Amino acid sequence: MDMRKVQMTFFATIVLTLLLAYDVEPLVFTKCGLTRYLLNNGFDRSLIGNWICLVESESSKNTSRITEKADRSKSLGLFQINDKLWCKWKTPGGRCEMKCETFIDDDIQDDSMCAKKVQKEMGFRYWEGWMRSCYRRHLPIPPC
Ligand SMILES: *[C@@H]1O[C@H](CO)[C@@H](O)[C@H](O)[C@H]1NC(C)=O
Repeated sequence: MDMRKVQMTFFATIVLTLLLAYDVEPLVFTKCGLTRYLLNNGFDRSLIGNWICLVESESSKNTSRITEKADRSKSLGLFQINDKLWCKWKTPGGRCEMKCETFIDDDIQDDSMCAKKVQKEMGFRYWEGWMRSCYRRHLPIPPC
């Protein structure tokens, strides 16, 4: 092998390793992955079917989904939490006392805490996607 090929291979290996290590892709959950996460993170078992349906209809299980609303506010992440009321950009704020940035990364711990608060205060009816696709449906826990 000539030197150039060796260098190219070396470079490609480093890039690949970095990509794998830092997981730069936005995370899209599988139905089972999401179910397991919710079950292991304090979501009420009797509501899991509703949460799965909500996440599927609101964000297609995509942790980085951003939807611009008619009033120019943005709904963010897996649970499509709105930046007008529940968080602040760059500094923790809103009713969840959190940074909006944390709702579009692939760590859904903050998202989960805030989503539970939204549901407690406003009910599932607050989410248009839930009203459209989940209201008055039979929503069992998906078998995994
Ligand atoms: C997830 O959402 C992000 C941001 O909207 C988008 O760039 C990406 O393509 C989506 N991924 C999938 C698999 O739909």
